[in-house]
Amino acid sequence: MSEHEPGRCATETSPSTIRVVRWRHATAVLRSADTYSSTGLAQLLRPPIDQTFLAQDPPAHSKGRRPLEPAFRRDSIRDSAELIREGIGVAVDGLEEGQIDLASSFARVFPPRVIAALLGLSPSNAVDLARWLREVDFAAVDPGLARAAARKLDELLLALVMSRDGRSGSRILQGLPTEASDAVAILRLLLDAAVETTSRATIELLALIARDSELQNACRDDPLTLGRTIDESLRWAPPVTSLLRRAVKDVRLGGTHIPAGALVEVDIVAANRDPMRFGSAADRVDICRHGQATLTFGTGVHTCIGRHLARAELVCATSQLLSRYRLVALEPRVNNPHGLPQGMRLRPKLAVLLRAYRP
Ligand code: HEM
Repeated sequence: MSEHEPGRCATETSPSTIRVVRWRHATAVLRSADTYSSTGLAQLLRPPIDQTFLAQDPPAHSKGRRPLEPAFRRDSIRDSAELIREGIGVAVDGLEEGQIDLASSFARVFPPRVIAALLGLSPSNAVDLARWLREVDFAAVDPGLARAAARKLDELLLALVMSRDGRSGSRILQGLPTEASDAVAILRLLLDAAVETTSRATIELLALIARDSELQNACRDDPLTLGRTIDESLRWAPPVTSLLRRAVKDVRLGGTHIPAGALVEVDIVAANRDPMRFGSAADRVDICRHGQATLTFGTGVHTCIGRHLARAELVCATSQLLSRYRLVALEPRVNNPHGLPQGMRLRPKLAVLLRAYRP
């Protein structure tokens, strides 16, 4: 039985944690913020992200999130297409030919550049930002380095917040709270939520495309195939593998009793491969399946605010790369030095060794 076997609705993984694996039950949990709360998970998040709407329930949650939503709507992201293209273009231009690790030299390079550009930061600030974000993750091995990086990151973000002008500039900045420390905390959330997820999604997608030359050619020539491949890759290998909630009262879910106070872990990988939702071949990659919502970006009040941005980045990054290179997959290896659980669990880092040639 696989780790994510969706054979049961819910299983107890420890006396106080219930793992939810069926798509239907996972959806019910994520859509019932009044029963399955995101508050009380703050201790799993690092400061200052523990103070943001990610760790809150409505109505406090909506107060922080709603003003930001216009900046991340599909049409706003479309308006920012040029900035996204430029951020990714710089990363593609920096690639060498031959055998390169596209994970470290591309997939981890462009997401911080894109979000920095959307925040109105200069390219040199974007490079610093990317470095400090990486160093913040080193808390387990080098706490001093991680603390210094967090301080520099906060200083940069504070300067950005203090320079904002209510009527012009980045739409994201316009949606932040007036109080500077609250605004910096939300920027830290956006950066944390945007960078690692998008790079892992890119790595999985590129590995999928590189392994299949026919699919690669089809993705290069046909935007519809590329779009379907992106959606299927996101379903099959979601970067956020599980989400946590806490039951606020005794409740029954698909026949399982969940006591008040229990941690509920929604297994997104299992739910995204639930045969009752995605058919008997749910465990297989099939780019012809489409139209069925997955839980890759969550659902309910905490649905990923950056999902349109993430998808636009995946489309742009892959098409820019494929227009210049032919990708060949080499032996993949898992490389997970400092995976950081933050209430959202992330899939292990894959170093995708690819050979990139000009076609
Ligand atoms: C492929 C890339 C991404 C994936 C797979 C992803 C996945 C998720 C998931 C599963 C959640 C739900 C968390 C929960 O229910 O507790 C979430 C929330 C969130 N995401 Fe994303 N995300 C991605 C990219 C982004 C980007 C690019 C941004 C934006 C800048 C972003 C910003 C956020 C924020 C702020 C939240 C919290 C929303 C809330 O609590 O209301 N994400 N994301």
